[in-house]
Amino acid sequence: MNLIIFGPPGSGKGTYASRLKSILGIKEVSTGDLFRDIVQQDSPLADKVRNYMKRGELVPDEIVIELLRSIIEKPEVKAKGFILDGFPRTLAQAEALDKITKISAIIVLKVSEEIIIERLSTRRICKKCETIYNVKYLKPKAEGVCDKCGGELYQREDDKPETIKKRLAIYDSQSKPVLEHYRGKIPFVEITTPSIDTHPEEMVEKILDGLQKLNLN
Ligand code: AP5
Repeated sequence: MNLIIFGPPGSGKGTYASRLKSILGIKEVSTGDLFRDIVQQDSPLADKVRNYMKRGELVPDEIVIELLRSIIEKPEVKAKGFILDGFPRTLAQAEALDKITKISAIIVLKVSEEIIIERLSTRRICKKCETIYNVKYLKPKAEGVCDKCGGELYQREDDKPETIKKRLAIYDSQSKPVLEHYRGKIPFVEITTPSIDTHPEEMVEKILDGLQKLNLN
């Protein structure tokens, strides 16, 4: 099963993808996580990517597409299937993906801008294992420490109010058209977040229900 999880910044893509991968036994491929690993390195590519991410802008298509291709063509990813988090987010990326592999379904997350801004400004991430927390809505057991690996939690540089607004504008102009590219071609599972305190497990149940109704495999 090859899935895409799609939605604006802060809609919960990473939170739900990390749970779905364990339940469905598929690989999670997050381009945001891959780029956050790359920027830790000391290389011209790292410098280039760091600048785009810091400004909340998209990394150029040619870099993202080659990175993505190299991951999903790995034998273990091909064999297990995957969930793509953060890709494709331009029409050019969607067209390139069509040539690389077949997608079984797209999960589309719908969330109000108010919830997004509140959640992103209170998000924290583990430096070591990248587990996602929220200081208000999804707290770790001990403040600042990852429940899973004991790693230190940090706030992403692109989670500042001005950068969040820019990322949302880029989503509207560059990423939303991707939905029209897929409409009528692959099944959609559309899930709305009813309120800010809807628990992730409840959202994951809704996604699984939607997928089950499609009878994929
Ligand atoms: P990326 O990391 O993909 O960022 P994004 O799409 O902006 O999405 P986010 O990671 O901000 O949000 P999310 O939807 O995963 O929400 P989360 O689960 O964390 O990309 C970062 C940058 O990399 C881009 O700006 C770009 O520069 C570059 N990039 C990446 N992919 C690219 C591509 N394909 N092309 C070009 N450039 C690319 O949830 C948010 C918060 O809400 C968390 O605190 C979480 O704990 C909380 N939360 C979520 N759901 C719940 C819930 N139900 N209950 C309680 N808390 C919840």
